[in-house]
Amino acid sequence: MKAFIVNRYGKKEKLQLTEIAEPVVKETDILVQIYSASVNLLDSKIRNGEFKLILPYKAPFTLGHDVAGIVTEVGTKVSKFKVGDEIYARPADYRIGTFAELISINEKDVALKPKNLSMAEAASIPLVGLTVWQALVEKANLKKGQKVFIQAGSGGVGTFAIQLAKHLGATVATTTSAANIDLVKSLGADIVIDYKKDDFETILKDYDVVLNSQDVKTLEKSLRILKPGGKVISISGPPDPAFGQEINANWFLKIILKFLSAGIRKKAKRLGVNFSFLFMRAQGEQLSEITRLIESGVIKPVMDKVFPFEQTNEAMAYVETGRARGKVVIKII
Ligand SMILES: NC(=O)c1ccc[n+]([C@@H]2O[C@H](COP(=O)([O-])OP(=O)(O)OC[C@H]3O[C@@H](n4cnc5c(N)ncnc54)[C@H](OP(=O)(O)O)[C@@H]3O)[C@@H](O)[C@H]2O)c1
Repeated sequence: MKAFIVNRYGKKEKLQLTEIAEPVVKETDILVQIYSASVNLLDSKIRNGEFKLILPYKAPFTLGHDVAGIVTEVGTKVSKFKVGDEIYARPADYRIGTFAELISINEKDVALKPKNLSMAEAASIPLVGLTVWQALVEKANLKKGQKVFIQAGSGGVGTFAIQLAKHLGATVATTTSAANIDLVKSLGADIVIDYKKDDFETILKDYDVVLNSQDVKTLEKSLRILKPGGKVISISGPPDPAFGQEINANWFLKIILKFLSAGIRKKAKRLGVNFSFLFMRAQGEQLSEITRLIESGVIKPVMDKVFPFEQTNEAMAYVETGRARGKVVIKII
């Protein structure tokens, strides 16, 4: 089958379109004919080598974290899916590889594709949808009447996060540049700050939750807009010791993680607020909940561009500009 692989780590390295062996289907796996994949900054960061310490993929390997497609084969112990099902997924770490024609995925990481979405739209959802679910529902326990600040409301994560936070009954503040103000308002944002003109720290106060996706300076400012006991959940780092436990890191990596997050944890403690890092994980049941929200019209996909499979490198370069409005998708079939 055809696949885009990382042959060598590096910022300037391009993925190579290569013929590789078809995936092995284990007992609890389903084999999926891939119709669409979506691009995430995680793909670029992995190719650059920035994740080697946490996810030490050995080159060559196929890149890609989001998939929508049709089940073509099921393992002997698969109980939830059958051949012909339309599914979508964020395959687990070490099982990635959606920039390809086929992928085998553990059934526990898969959900039925929302019936009202095209394959391209469905592929845009899993990684960002699960990230937001795990941040706002699982970690923050965001409740009706609370105030949440979602940074970069016009990005892949932000467009989903605004919609889910509104559904949960929160008041939503977000940042974006002038060109995307109408977009984030149409998704339900209550307070929109043009980050090129205004400083959110001077506008927002007594927030319950912040979803941080930007740099360290923004993270530090975010601590200061929280009410006592408020929570900042950062998806852009720094990773913390709890994350080390989650991934069963060795003692050396645990020390590094403790060191990397020491400064921000200390600042949070001094302010009486909570800091935690989130690295999203594959989760089929949560994705099924997301399917229900999409089918009932609560959440709609926001897509910027669709690239043909041959232009996977161009799709990644587009996402790397940091200007995408919503998601960027690759169409394989
Ligand atoms: N830890 C995890 O599990 C996890 C999961 C998903 C994503 N992430 C990380 O979260 C970050 C965001 O991901 P994403 O997929 O949402 O990115 P994205 O879609 O590429 O974000 C692009 C958007 O960000 C906006 N933006 C850029 N700089 C901004 C700033 N300073 N303030 C406000 N908005 C700004 C841009 O709007 P303008 O053009 O208007 O500036 C654009 O619409 C990335 O670092 C990604 O790696 C982590």
